Amino acid sequence: VLYFDHNASTPLHGEVLDEMMPYLQSNFANPSSVHQQGRLARQAIDRAREQVAALVNAHPSQVIFTSGGSEANNLAISGSVRGMGLSRLMIAATEHPSVRDTAKQFESSLVLDELKVDSGGVIDKDFFFDKSNSFGQGLVSVMLANNETGVIQNLNQIGKVAQSHGHVMHTDAVQAAGKIDVDFSALPVNLLTLSAHKIYGPKGIGALVFDKSIDLMPMIFGGGQERKRRSGTENVAAIAGFGKAAELALTNLSNNRTYLLELQNYFENQLEKITGIIIFSKRETRLPNTTFFGLPGIDGESLLMQLDTHGIAVTSGSACASTSLKPSHVLLAMGVEVDVARSAIRVSFGVENTKAQIDELIKALYAQQQLFASLESIEI
Ligand SMILES: Cc1ncc(COP(=O)(O)O)c(C=O)c1O
Repeated sequence: VLYFDHNASTPLHGEVLDEMMPYLQSNFANPSSVHQQGRLARQAIDRAREQVAALVNAHPSQVIFTSGGSEANNLAISGSVRGMGLSRLMIAATEHPSVRDTAKQFESSLVLDELKVDSGGVIDKDFFFDKSNSFGQGLVSVMLANNETGVIQNLNQIGKVAQSHGHVMHTDAVQAAGKIDVDFSALPVNLLTLSAHKIYGPKGIGALVFDKSIDLMPMIFGGGQERKRRSGTENVAAIAGFGKAAELALTNLSNNRTYLLELQNYFENQLEKITGIIIFSKRETRLPNTTFFGLPGIDGESLLMQLDTHGIAVTSGSACASTSLKPSHVLLAMGVEVDVARSAIRVSFGVENTKAQIDELIKALYAQQQLFASLESIEI
């Protein structure tokens, strides 16, 4: 299988699996137990908390482990709205469903604004400045890097404006982590979301990083784990794996970024030779691994299926939306025509991909395009 869907999930790194195994086999103790085995499990969590904090230059006490990016996004929004009595939510139109749908839960009880983006997927600054100006304390949620287009937002500017008006600033950094620098201490953000399975860690584990100015109301009550902010016996193996994945992501960040960028350039140079191809957000600052493109006239879903029969894994939008046939909300927010949006395919590379694999992908795409062109000429 040629796997080009790393924004959906990444393979588990061998060293991550090694780190996890003891907590699935010999040491199964509850980390809240005071006996030696319990203390060892607790130490594994403490170590992982340091590793995850280091990845984003935060303090370990700022890290709350959750069941993944979705839960962290839910906690960031619900937790701060309830804990701080916020009266407004300002959410970018291109956010992940775990942000958008959480915000919608509060639609009837507070003012909810969707922040517009331009045709490149970048936040419309004038619209945002205008919205953030009106009164009432709210939460602004703008993702650092988009999972579909790879577009990186200028959080320095957005966060500063948001905070200067007294708003809480949240960013979903799930796709940015491990691919670009993410510095929680330097960025003007109060809450930041991470997920392990996008950085060669296990699924079902993530984190919300928060600063102490934020009063978070927990969503899960019980034994008071995670400093009372997220109860439930910790998933020790997954947390240990997340820690290792974060450590590797930090160590290899610069090399990985350079390599991914090389793959992306190699792919896009050949992709652009296909007549009529559109690479979305091509002129914006993007992640080094993501290429979202459209071939007007082609049905993205059918193309995905065709590639799948050749053992090539890509996606036709965000993974979560690919079971529904609705075109990508990200592209629609950018003003892309519905027909073009329906043709969209996302390719997201990972560090185990090679140029030889990309050659195979390009060959398969060219073959599809020829098929499409010949069908068109028959119709004429
Ligand atoms: C930008 C973004 N945020 C949040 C999530 C959700 O993360 P998880 O799968 O860990 O719940 C994803 C995963 O698809 C994502 O791409």
